[in-house]
Amino acid sequence: MSTITVTGAGYVGLVTGACFADLGNTVTCLDIDEARIAGLNRGILPIYEPGLKELVDRNRESGRLRFTTDYQDACRGTEFVFIAVNTPSGQEGEADMGQVRSAVESLARVVSGRVIVVNKSTMPIGTGDWVASILERLGPPDLQFAVVSNPEFLREGAAMIKYASNAFLATKISFINEIASICEKLGGDVKTVARGMGLDKRIGTAFLDAGLGYGGSCFPKDVKALAHMAAVNGCHPQLLRAVMEINRDARRSVMWKLRQRLGSLEDRLIGILGLSFKPNTDDLRESPALEIIHLLRAEHARLQVYDPVAMDKARRIIKGVEFCEDAYAAAAGAEALVLVTDWNEFKQLDMARLKAAMAYPLFIDGRNIHDPEQLRRVGFEYYGVGRGQSPEAGNGRVTRPTQVSATV
Ligand SMILES: NC(=O)c1ccc[n+]([C@@H]2O[C@H](COP(=O)([O-])OP(=O)(O)OC[C@H]3O[C@@H](n4cnc5c(N)ncnc54)[C@H](O)[C@@H]3O)[C@@H](O)[C@H]2O)c1
Repeated sequence: MSTITVTGAGYVGLVTGACFADLGNTVTCLDIDEARIAGLNRGILPIYEPGLKELVDRNRESGRLRFTTDYQDACRGTEFVFIAVNTPSGQEGEADMGQVRSAVESLARVVSGRVIVVNKSTMPIGTGDWVASILERLGPPDLQFAVVSNPEFLREGAAMIKYASNAFLATKISFINEIASICEKLGGDVKTVARGMGLDKRIGTAFLDAGLGYGGSCFPKDVKALAHMAAVNGCHPQLLRAVMEINRDARRSVMWKLRQRLGSLEDRLIGILGLSFKPNTDDLRESPALEIIHLLRAEHARLQVYDPVAMDKARRIIKGVEFCEDAYAAAAGAEALVLVTDWNEFKQLDMARLKAAMAYPLFIDGRNIHDPEQLRRVGFEYYGVGRGQSPEAGNGRVTRPTQVSATV
């Protein structure tokens, strides 16, 4: 068993550290965020991940996992240092390596003896040599080190692979979203199309769910970073650019659907189901919900929002919306509901109760998790993504709530 330091106790670092500790290694998680470390030392997790709390508690109590903000303390006698700090998008879409630089510089000043530095963050090509040059320049003269790369999935000798894989998966998502918008206009059902395509072993079913597009901390910035790397090296990454544009359009299509049915969104009351970028996480980074909420607020809609786990984080960054205690409260009095995140909880809602709570039963299913016919039978006016029907403006716009009882 080894002595391991994980730098950056976020979504990747904390999970990595806890898993290594559970395997029997001695792990120190290091972070510059004092509140985060103080919380972890009291058993309060900064992120939600199913099963993580139990894993952290068990290993903290056994003494195999500890947390600190002190580089010197964290790196004493360590054999492996994992760099798991963030590499967000810079101004031009490039990976911003500021956090990595700072972490490696701090590390170089305290490590000694023999150490293996593991690049766990998603970093551009050439980062291994760059990290090594910092360690050579700032580390002690007798330091023996190696720098290796270990992102989530890495094939030996192909350190490009992480960016390329994420870009390919993002392309699959944007591809099916483009097919979805064609289905919407021409009357096809994208779910049937995707199922059929997926039966072909060369294609497979994964990442062929049409919806509001990809989000989170990886796909958006990795596609941007790869496009940036390509462009500054003399390529013209047209496909990657189209992937990003389709992804943006996927969110905007919600606005169009709502406007088709409600007309002006000013002062309209709209419920939002789901805030995290995907289910089973509280991660809001690049979440479609944030963009949709921003667009709706720009048009002065009134919003009631609910998410099963991301509410605390959302309260800190989303302003001017009402946070509700459950999906039914988010639906209360609303003239439309937009389902943004495909949490299981939203698949199991009592749809009749949900409809009864609303002023008008317009349901935009941004993740295609409901059966259109079933919802229509309950009385919803249902629109999914690419499910054969798109909202028509001429089809009798929804009147404002004061007149609703007469028209609905
Ligand atoms: N989140 C994911 O699911 C995921 C998946 C695959 C790859 N990645 C990649 O992993 C990396 C980390 O992502 P994340 O989502 O865990 O980020 P995160 O923002 O959740 O965590 C990063 C942590 O690093 C800390 N930090 C910043 N500078 C530091 C420094 N100098 N020293 C010590 N700690 C420092 C921050 O305080 C934060 O707690 C990124 O490159 C990301 O692209 C993330």
